[in-house]
Amino acid sequence: MQTAAVILAAGLGKRMRSRLPKVLHPLAGRPLLAHVLETARSLNPARLLVVYGHGGDAVRSAFTELDCLWVEQAEQRGTGHAVIQALPALTGIDRVLVLYGDVPLIQAETLKCLLELAQEMPLVLLTAELTDPSGYGRILRNEVGQVVGVVEERDATEAERAIREVNTGFLVAERASLERWLSQIGNRNAQGEYYLTDLVAIAAREGARIATARPQEVHEIIGVNDRVQLAELERIYQGRQARALMQSGVTLADPDRFDLRGRLVAEPDVFIDIDVIIEGEVQLASGVRIGPYCLLKDCAIGPDSEVLSHSVIDGARIGAQVRIGPFARIRPETQLADRVQVGNFVEIKKAHLGEGSKANHLTYLGDAEIGRGVNIGAGTITCNYDGATKHQTRIEDGAFIGSNTALVAPVIVGAGATIGAGSVITRAAPPERLTLARAQQVTVEGWRRPKPPA
Ligand code: UD1
Ligand code: MG
Repeated sequence: MQTAAVILAAGLGKRMRSRLPKVLHPLAGRPLLAHVLETARSLNPARLLVVYGHGGDAVRSAFTELDCLWVEQAEQRGTGHAVIQALPALTGIDRVLVLYGDVPLIQAETLKCLLELAQEMPLVLLTAELTDPSGYGRILRNEVGQVVGVVEERDATEAERAIREVNTGFLVAERASLERWLSQIGNRNAQGEYYLTDLVAIAAREGARIATARPQEVHEIIGVNDRVQLAELERIYQGRQARALMQSGVTLADPDRFDLRGRLVAEPDVFIDIDVIIEGEVQLASGVRIGPYCLLKDCAIGPDSEVLSHSVIDGARIGAQVRIGPFARIRPETQLADRVQVGNFVEIKKAHLGEGSKANHLTYLGDAEIGRGVNIGAGTITCNYDGATKHQTRIEDGAFIGSNTALVAPVIVGAGATIGAGSVITRAAPPERLTLARAQQVTVEGWRRPKPPA
């Protein structure tokens, strides 16, 4: 059977009060629509379509994947009208799954159930029993429990509004029937729109068998209409991720204060303290400890390393038993070998630090190749930029850089060299020797401090 997935994403999203089209608002760092696309894709449909409209160009250019067809609905005239726009692109398809760009938590398992049922039934609806059904279309059933229609809340009678079984909007329909049913829908309703849901009554009248299924979790069907709902779904989504991580052996100090906006691969016995944000692709080896208020982005951290509070690590590879922070900033293309120590107010960019090297306080290391066992004193700066070009600093194994040293790149400090505190180093410092570049200290004999007039 050839299945197509059609994602409706043309709605206005007025209640977001935003310049950004609703389906581009991020959930866990990715557009709402990206979540739905990913779930739809996981079902391996023969065709994947997105009906877009409002904010069209922005929506299209946010996605570069080539595996989906974009169908424009220039005017938003209802969900039925939206699916009608997709029909010409559905030739050769046997059945059609309808999804929503603003309902991001739908699970593949739930959709698989719908598709399973659709092997025998021409129409399958995903419905849910809600304690508060307001805002949703209600499912109408006859005396023997067969579905006979869906009524939108605005068009419902008092009695119909009391029904708690709601239409989630998700459905699977046999393609040829869908086309026939849609050709019969009209727009004589409270909103003057072509409702997709009207096909349910048309199918029932035709005598078509209609099945219903339930989602595994009720929040799978919640749509985002405003930023309050977006925040609610964000917490649900984060909760899901947090539980999965805890079950895989990660300790989260507080799962309600943890945000993963990307993918985290964590080995067992990782500890993550409160208010840590993880973005992009992050790998944490076993025994890693992340202190509170840290941001980790696109990085890999080796076994038993520790990141202390308020540190930012972005685009770096960190070895084993490394200690970073508190208040450290590790920037892209940095590599720290095993047992490196980086302390407070240290910024490192595009630098490699060899095994056991230390930069414990108030330092900037950029475009630097630093050997093993190097000690970088407080206040050391690699002056890597001359206003036009970046230059390299090389510090070889076992060197000792005194506090408040400026290393004017390009420059080399040889193995085992010692640089006296306060030096401005502009030429190569030879190995194993003491090099300093500072004014001589003088004590002025006979000098008297001026006294204020009596
Ligand atoms: C729809 C259902 C309702 C269901 C509810 C579940 C209809 C008529 N009603 O109502 O039974 O309980 O969803 O959330 O289908 N869209 C388009 N083009 C349009 C109009 C909408 O692409 O012309 C898209 C929207 O972007 C959105 C989705 O379709 O993703 C649903 O549209 P919306 O207007 O939110 O429908 P509801 O009134 O919520
Ligand atoms: Mg809606």
